[in-house]
Amino acid sequence: MVPAFLLLLTLNAQEAAIVAPATAAAQRYRPLVHFSPERNWTNDPCGLYFLDGFYHLFFQYNPHGDQWGHMSWGHASTPDLFTWKEHPVALPEENGVMMFTGSAVVDRNNSSGICADDSGCPILIYTGHESKSESRPRREHQNLAAGDRKGMTWRKYSGNPVLNEERAEFRDPKVFWHERTHRWIMVVALANEHKAGFYASRDLKDWKKLSEFGPAGTTGPNWECPEFFELPVEGGTKGETRWVLKIGIGDGHVFGGSGEQYFVGRFDGTSFVNDNPASTTLWFDHGRDCYCTLAFANTPKRPYVEMLGWMSNWSYAKDTPTTPFRGQMTIPRRVSLRKTREGIRIVQRPAVNTARGRRVVAGTASPDAGPWMSSGIPPAFQLDIETPPGYKGEVGVRLSNSAGEWFTVGYDRAKQEWFADRTAVKNVNNAKFASRAAVKRVERGPLRLQILVDVSSVEMFASRGEVSMTHLLFPSQPWNRIDITGDSGAKFETGFTRLGL
Ligand code: FRU
Repeated sequence: MVPAFLLLLTLNAQEAAIVAPATAAAQRYRPLVHFSPERNWTNDPCGLYFLDGFYHLFFQYNPHGDQWGHMSWGHASTPDLFTWKEHPVALPEENGVMMFTGSAVVDRNNSSGICADDSGCPILIYTGHESKSESRPRREHQNLAAGDRKGMTWRKYSGNPVLNEERAEFRDPKVFWHERTHRWIMVVALANEHKAGFYASRDLKDWKKLSEFGPAGTTGPNWECPEFFELPVEGGTKGETRWVLKIGIGDGHVFGGSGEQYFVGRFDGTSFVNDNPASTTLWFDHGRDCYCTLAFANTPKRPYVEMLGWMSNWSYAKDTPTTPFRGQMTIPRRVSLRKTREGIRIVQRPAVNTARGRRVVAGTASPDAGPWMSSGIPPAFQLDIETPPGYKGEVGVRLSNSAGEWFTVGYDRAKQEWFADRTAVKNVNNAKFASRAAVKRVERGPLRLQILVDVSSVEMFASRGEVSMTHLLFPSQPWNRIDITGDSGAKFETGFTRLGL
């Protein structure tokens, strides 16, 4: 039996017409609320910042095709982290130098002297990647580009590179203003040494090395995309804070391929000291498709940072069946720190204001009542489920379609794990894509599960944000049935929000 409130969700004719373009053959996997470029390849987000009411997202971009190459910085912006507008390429590949990943700062006092005037400007800090040539080995170095206040025109600094150690694997600079020592700090990945290098500068141009961190945690073939920030600890002592050093690993994630880990510790302005033994690995996301997650700079001071990542995996990114674009970003997340039984851990929640979605409905759902929804399933939605106090059973969501494909996500009580299983959706021509990801957790209180579905992805947030699992998914037919699974006789609270139209 379909609960009465769900009847509200049936599409009327006008809405069906709006859905049609997104499901037309060429664009069938185009997400509605996640950023994807109009056409061509993207991987990492880079240079994220907020200024004058707009969030700016730059992204690794190939202006010439839908596979990796000619890396440049594409550009998009949004006032709400929800509706994106793409702009012309900000930093094109030039003279054989590719524009690799980096970060952004707002240089308020023109400390660099490279802004148009002393009212300051946004500055992008990127890695210049030069492949091996006849005259020299491969090298990577750090560079600056200054923007106008609106962030629509960018000039590469004439004195580039500003940090060059003639290294081959030296990339993805994260730069921020460190108030206590009154200087800029840069964290760079020494990729094949599994280290992060720390540097300091007064003017963004002249950099001195401070220290190194690593190897630690999981080393994989490469450390990439460092992100570094300080946050208050929820549940900690008054004023307690920690620094988080997040690192991407190009391969060797617990579920295969690329993924991300983080370290929690202290930073005195010179060195980062890990709170945990070097052997501890803390995974940033427990799914397979969250990489190079970076934080927006220059946001108002809050007890969280806003981050987004590339929603893919180097193991199969080139084989994802989308056209004319390839690559999309995760939903932006609010990331904070919480003291838990196991130690201080990150907490993630979707940052989009879901009230912007159409029609929020709520009610109870019972797993015995048959399909929870079997018509009018929108292409993008958020589904929230909460079990009652004292409930000791399972909970999950199963999406399925008329091609016999299904995807399940939820909590398996017997195995004591959160899981996401996409083994039955096979539309990617790469054996590494199929997987069941799972993370062990003993859950004591009510189970809360929030899933965001957007045409070709499912992101799950659970355990009050302590677990997140991010997955791409390319069903060959749209989902036409949702089941909420759980123990017989159970009754769950639910919320359903249609997103993006
Ligand atoms: C990570 C990465 C970065 C590099 C970029 C190149 O996904 O390998 O280290 O800057 O991609 O596109």
